[in-house]
Amino acid sequence: MLILGLETSCDETGVALYHTGRGLLAHALFSQVDIHVEYGGVVPELASRDHIRKALPLIEQVMAEANCTAGDINAVAYTAGPGLVGALMVGATLARALAWGWGVPSLGVHHMEGHLLAPMLEEDRPDFPFVALLVSGGHTQLVRVDAIGEYRLLGESLDDAAGEAFDKAAKMLGLPYPGGPHIARLAEQGDPSRFDFPRPMVNRPGLDFSFSGLKTYTLNTVNDCRAAGELTEQDKCDIARAFEEAVVGTLVIKCRRALKQEGLKTLVMAGGVSANRNLRASLEMALKKDRARVFYPAPEFCTDNGAMIAYAGAQRLAAGQRDEGGTAVRPRWPM
Ligand code: KG4
Ligand code: ZN
Repeated sequence: MLILGLETSCDETGVALYHTGRGLLAHALFSQVDIHVEYGGVVPELASRDHIRKALPLIEQVMAEANCTAGDINAVAYTAGPGLVGALMVGATLARALAWGWGVPSLGVHHMEGHLLAPMLEEDRPDFPFVALLVSGGHTQLVRVDAIGEYRLLGESLDDAAGEAFDKAAKMLGLPYPGGPHIARLAEQGDPSRFDFPRPMVNRPGLDFSFSGLKTYTLNTVNDCRAAGELTEQDKCDIARAFEEAVVGTLVIKCRRALKQEGLKTLVMAGGVSANRNLRASLEMALKKDRARVFYPAPEFCTDNGAMIAYAGAQRLAAGQRDEGGTAVRPRWPM
């Protein structure tokens, strides 16, 4: 089976072709970062309009790369939610129209299920059951995964998502959107012993997160540095490092706690923040001590992409899922 996957939930147009026997045949991504950067965040209407411009050329590109024609494609999967309603509508409408024209089924996929299954695109893939840490710009969740579609929420952020916290801290330091990679870059030059940021909620039992207090702490530290003179490049690096250490430290503690609670030895990490090198290294080191293992996608499949939607679509298609009329998108959609 050959599945075309379309991702248009936010500011990346992602397209991919996944073959159930041969794996990922081709994938392409257009990031709209340059369009939104001057606004300091994603402008929904601009996002929708650019998805319209980019989706078809990207589909033509992956079909050419995979050397396939429309007749080879068995289904079209698209992100049905959660996400920006206009952006989702572009992908859903295009996917449904193509599927109708080609006489094949279309199916809507949950964006976070796409992220969750992205590590399955790697050669060394985890076995069920496992605990998944989903860390993106919109979500921070710990989920127990027993099989495709069998998910139980163990804990989640009560306020900001981890990626959102990275983006907000970056803004305070005058860094562009999206801030995660910029904070990570500065943090590498930062002195980890200069500031000690709090690890929110780690002393309370349970698996929920909270990152809004950390945001306030970051702002206060920035203001303290300004009051003492100017905010120097080294100040920025040291704050970025302390912030990153606090987020990473919190995530590591909660992941270990979740594995222990569920009696499992496999952790899967996905979503944009899982590209963070400090987080990867810290989790690997911590889990080694527990004789547990962590799996994550290649960096290009941590952030939004079409490959994860094509893969999740393939799994859902095999389980018998198809679109049946009705609304195509769900901007708010719990997993
Ligand atoms: O999964 P994703 O591409 O989009 C959503 O579904 O939200 O995640 C984007 C988020 C942004 O908040 C971005 O700042 C963060 O992931 N991010 C990172 C890194 N790369 C992306 N955060 C920390 N370190 C990184 N290297
Ligand atoms: Zn995402």
